[in-house]
Amino acid sequence: MSHPSPLAVSRRVVLAGSAASVGLSAVPIGGASQNVEAPPLTMPPTMPVSMEVNGKPVSLTLDTRTTLLDALRDHLKLTGTKKGCDHGQCGACTVLVDGVRINSCLTLAVMHEGDKVTTIEGLGTPSDLHPMQAAFIKHDGYQCGYCTPGQICSAVAVLEEIKAGVPSHVQADITHAAKATNMEMRERMSGNICRCGAYSNIAEAMAEVAGTAS
Ligand code: FES
Ligand code: FES
Repeated sequence: MSHPSPLAVSRRVVLAGSAASVGLSAVPIGGASQNVEAPPLTMPPTMPVSMEVNGKPVSLTLDTRTTLLDALRDHLKLTGTKKGCDHGQCGACTVLVDGVRINSCLTLAVMHEGDKVTTIEGLGTPSDLHPMQAAFIKHDGYQCGYCTPGQICSAVAVLEEIKAGVPSHVQADITHAAKATNMEMRERMSGNICRCGAYSNIAEAMAEVAGTAS
């Protein structure tokens, strides 16, 4: 009688062997069997938050980990605010909160109960542009436009910061209010990155709005 070659192992035998080895590996060391129960699935905690966005009251119930950026884009469909790095490094997500510019990717939405948030959609409309929006168009302050909503929100806030006497690192004398010079504006806009390199045109747009254009 002929015996099968050791290599002629059927698929059924291989599968049975695999199942056995999986079963063995599931037995705890020491041989004792025990029932390990998976932890129960829990929903992430949510919280209600109410704020004013572009002049309108909004109320949301959000996963507490939701950033303001994601709340604006994904929950309120205000996609003008852009997600670049999601790590506070590019400025594409800049919005105004109570008139102050912030990176909306670095703050949780539920921290903004009662705040007034302004996005690029709230600064102006196509038929009624904010002066900074109009100046960006006039001076070609953008190419692809991805960074532009953040640049414009930041630029609006920068001019307010200069007016309010907020000092900067390039200000020679912090005992006197800074002027909206090219150097001042470039320093204060340094957190807004433009991969297209529209910086000179952005500075020209800002100078026009600041009334310092030569
Ligand atoms: S997306 Fe917020 S800083 Fe880049
Ligand atoms: S216009 Fe393209 S990244 Fe600024």
